[in-house]
Amino acid sequence: MKKLLSAFVSVLMLMSLSCAGETSADDQAEEDLASAATADTRFSAEDGALLQSYLLGRPVETDLSGKNYDLNGNGRWDVFDLCLLKEQIEAQPAEEPQSDTIVVYFSRTGNTEKIADYLLEITGADSYVIQAAVPYSDEDIAYNNSSCRADQEQNDKTVRPEIADPISSLDGYDTVFLGYPIWWGEEPRIIDTFLESYDLSEKTVIPFCTSGSSGISVSEKNIAALVPIGEQLAGKRFSASASKDEVQQWYDSLPLTKEETEMKLNITVNGQELTATLADSSAAKELAQKLESGSVTVELGEYGGFEKVGALPWSLTRSDESTVTQAGDIMLYQGSQITIFYGSNSWSYTPLGHVDGLSQEELSEILGQGDVSAELSIKK
Ligand SMILES: Cc1cc2nc3c(=O)[nH]c(=O)nc-3n(C[C@H](O)[C@H](O)[C@H](O)COP(=O)(O)O)c2cc1C
Repeated sequence: MKKLLSAFVSVLMLMSLSCAGETSADDQAEEDLASAATADTRFSAEDGALLQSYLLGRPVETDLSGKNYDLNGNGRWDVFDLCLLKEQIEAQPAEEPQSDTIVVYFSRTGNTEKIADYLLEITGADSYVIQAAVPYSDEDIAYNNSSCRADQEQNDKTVRPEIADPISSLDGYDTVFLGYPIWWGEEPRIIDTFLESYDLSEKTVIPFCTSGSSGISVSEKNIAALVPIGEQLAGKRFSASASKDEVQQWYDSLPLTKEETEMKLNITVNGQELTATLADSSAAKELAQKLESGSVTVELGEYGGFEKVGALPWSLTRSDESTVTQAGDIMLYQGSQITIFYGSNSWSYTPLGHVDGLSQEELSEILGQGDVSAELSIKK
């Protein structure tokens, strides 16, 4: 997993200007840089940020004493070292994608970052942190003050705050999770900067956000309208205190993995093995995932002359819809019961799947007259 940190670029650019004045040192700088590179020393953007903070007299928690930042060899760490460090970081080859998924996020006060970190632990995806070229100070986001920077930006849909150290490319990624805080009901304008900087026309984009209470839907619509996106999946708003379990549940419910849609449900009943195609519902995906760790046997009772129904060992996510069932339909009833229909009924159910290739008569015969045991398992 990689993290591309970029907090210090804006100040570096200013400092680069001041370095440009040190013309007598330019030639020396190249030599110093070359010798530093051969010294098997690799610096990260975080190193640069730390050195910058040190030089600016800001409190730095990390101990810098072990770092070889004296690149120009003058016995002290100065702005010139910082310029050399920047050159060296930029000279390092771009990191290759380690995953087909990347979690991209902007987080000013750490709430969205926490959710992104959970998501990274769950997915093992790569990550990229969007940072503003001109960082947002506390005053900038004091949103009760209508003239603060964040409020002014949110009031103008055309503002595109510059991103520090933009990721060079999203090539190699199929799926982009995009996280941000809600600012005045919408995505921060810097998210729009990000969206307009890359070709997302063949990517799956999945927004997520944190907020005090506002939902994600306005920002989802904004994102969908801003740039062409291959597929935009329904996003999710989290509270600042959301747990890793909540993030996991959301991730599990996403229609992401092709494998899941290709998985079949096996139902062994009265010595016969039936195959069913899983529905495109969160409950069906959860069922498939539960059965990955082993089959379960469910006692199905006869009901109404049209279905067999019994309790599952777990509750699944309900997305009930008013349905007129057909023979072969497999439904989730009241969140924790599975029903296999050999006839028709009108009720509100969550689709789980449909038995493949059997007529109503064949199904009625296999399921039999009374109660029955059914072993459920999953087959890829
Ligand atoms: C400028 C600004 C505007 C905000 N507007 C809203 C809002 O409209 N609705 C809401 O519920 N929270 C709003 N918040 C609260 C943030 O969405 C919330 O604190 C979020 O979790 C911050 O995420 P972060 O820590 O990743 O930056 C706003 C915060 C800021 C700074």
